[in-house]
Amino acid sequence: MEYTTLYKLVGVNKVFKQGSKEVHALRNVDLTISFGEHISVQGPTGGGKSTLLQILGALDVPSTGNVEFSGRDMEKMSSRELTEMRAEKIGFIFQNYNLIPTMTAQENVEVALAATNVAASQRRERAAAVLAKVGLADRAHHLPSELSGGQQQRVAIARAMVKEPAVLLADEPTGNLDEETRDEIMELLETQASENNLTLIVVTHDSAVAARAKRHLNIKDGVVREV
Ligand SMILES: Nc1ncnc2c1ncn2[C@@H]1O[C@H](COP(=O)(O)OP(=O)(O)OP(=O)(O)O)[C@@H](O)[C@H]1O
Ligand SMILES: [Mg+2]
Repeated sequence: MEYTTLYKLVGVNKVFKQGSKEVHALRNVDLTISFGEHISVQGPTGGGKSTLLQILGALDVPSTGNVEFSGRDMEKMSSRELTEMRAEKIGFIFQNYNLIPTMTAQENVEVALAATNVAASQRRERAAAVLAKVGLADRAHHLPSELSGGQQQRVAIARAMVKEPAVLLADEPTGNLDEETRDEIMELLETQASENNLTLIVVTHDSAVAARAKRHLNIKDGVVREV
């Protein structure tokens, strides 16, 4: 039987302690996500969207509850296995691009493969190929400061794609872009996702961006609902 479940969350809670105060960022989240889904996540500020994305990306762990990735219980994975998983299977894209300012576009993309076994020559080739795919072949040797916002986000997408991940997790990927560039970036993400059979999960405050997804989640006060 083909295994179609990418994520399975059962009873996930996340509580942050701030001094004597506790913030319940996620409450009893049950969520199953299949390979290849395109999901939007909306909800008020402070609702828990980024917290959920961090947990899906193995950048944070639940306080209680269980997360399976590709049928594997993340809690039972060693820190080396988690690092490997982040390095190879998960592409992250952020609102503020998070590029390294002193590195060229090409170097920013190559860096994503630093924690993998890919040889240096292969890293160079793969980074150049994926930059060409996102339409930046002629900007590969520019620094982020020499690129427009939309171009910087393309570099960030290339950096996520170069791993050939199973999932793209995007936190407000178009928050800093004008409407036309926003639509270009969303088209690029969607094309990359469908061509490579990736799962695409997009956190956004922009209803036009959310409307492009096939499945819609809303998080408010840590409670996830399908909408
Ligand atoms: N590292 C942390 N330490 C303490 N509290 C945190 C931490 N990270 C998040 N929180 C709290 O958890 C709650 C959820 O935060 P989260 O960042 O997930 O919200 P969000 O939905 O992404 O909001 P926004 O739309 O503003 O990005 C908030 O109350 C926030 O203050
Ligand atoms: Mg957030």
